[in-house]
Amino acid sequence: MARTTQTGTLRVACVGAGNIGRSWAIAYAMGGAEVRLFDISEAALARAWTFIDAAADDFVAAGRLERKELLRERIHAVTSLTAALDDVHHVQESVSDDPAVKRAVFAELDALAAPSVTIGSSSGELPVSKFTEGLPGAGRCLLVHPVNPPHILRAIEICPTPWTERWALDACRTMVESMGMVPVDVTREINGYVINRLQYALIGEALHLVGEGYCEPKAIDAAIKHGLGLRWAFLGPFETSHLNATQGYREYMLTDEAGARRLMSDIRADYAWDHALIERIHGYLIQAMRSEDIVQHQQRRDRQLLSLMQHLQEQPQLAAAVDGPETKPVRGER
Ligand SMILES: NC(=O)c1ccc[n+]([C@@H]2O[C@H](COP(=O)([O-])OP(=O)(O)OC[C@H]3O[C@@H](n4cnc5c(N)ncnc54)[C@H](O)[C@@H]3O)[C@@H](O)[C@H]2O)c1
Repeated sequence: MARTTQTGTLRVACVGAGNIGRSWAIAYAMGGAEVRLFDISEAALARAWTFIDAAADDFVAAGRLERKELLRERIHAVTSLTAALDDVHHVQESVSDDPAVKRAVFAELDALAAPSVTIGSSSGELPVSKFTEGLPGAGRCLLVHPVNPPHILRAIEICPTPWTERWALDACRTMVESMGMVPVDVTREINGYVINRLQYALIGEALHLVGEGYCEPKAIDAAIKHGLGLRWAFLGPFETSHLNATQGYREYMLTDEAGARRLMSDIRADYAWDHALIERIHGYLIQAMRSEDIVQHQQRRDRQLLSLMQHLQEQPQLAAAVDGPETKPVRGER
């Protein structure tokens, strides 16, 4: 079945207004869409508005949004799922990471949304097939997973389930690209997909290194934020390796192949960490970033990310293997 309404203004329902849902609402609004934002929790919606207003200020200050009111003009909080889904083209599900909740929400979304509506899940770990199997409209359900926060970062992981139909995959890819985001195409499902598997491989080895006393938590953060992470801000790991040797990637990997294999077999992404280790690392983190101040630190992180994105977009592309179109300032007209 083909989606019939891809002309004119895109209308999107964001279901779940927590950390990711509220950020998605801004991302879609910045992409020119009219957004309906729904959550079963009024408190979550109230927090979402505070977050949206703060992001609007940041976007205006960065020259990415013409005037702050635009976000409130494009995002509408609604009080029922029926109102959220009325005449939309796409639903972005971002409810709590509980398989039973996801399954119940998807059953409801599938029953209420018109057949041409695509339903994307933000699920970071759980494969979408685990909660869409057997639904009459399972063919329009798929993974559309962002990196937090999607209103600033542009990578969007897209993956079909075994029963996702081609038209739904194509429609979501086109939608993501038309908003200036970059699809990360995943061919088939695996727990954690690509983004979280990469992220957790690093987190696992970091726990191993600290847990076994090879370094303190501070050394891990320093190694990434003052070293590896700066290159990763504009090069992927394969691209980084390619530039680490005179003759490129083959030389990097094969000059000391035995050494590379020995190191990789030593790395412990599956390290059996315990709660004492988590408490120790938490203790280190709250010295500089108290739990009560997390919201302010998140805002600072988002502002820094925005400046970094701004800087990167002003630079000539070094490697453009997966990069999408530039993000343009958002103006009032549609
Ligand atoms: N937090 C991240 O860094 C991150 C990154 C990428 C993807 N994700 C994914 O996004 C999804 C949401 O994660 P989050 O961090 O925003 O969680 P969250 O707990 O901040 O928000 C979840 C929201 O869903 C709402 N909700 C629960 N049941 C609902 C229902 N039946 N209808 C409508 N709303 C309902 C809750 O009230 C809550 O506000 C998860 O699937 C997660 O894997 C999270």
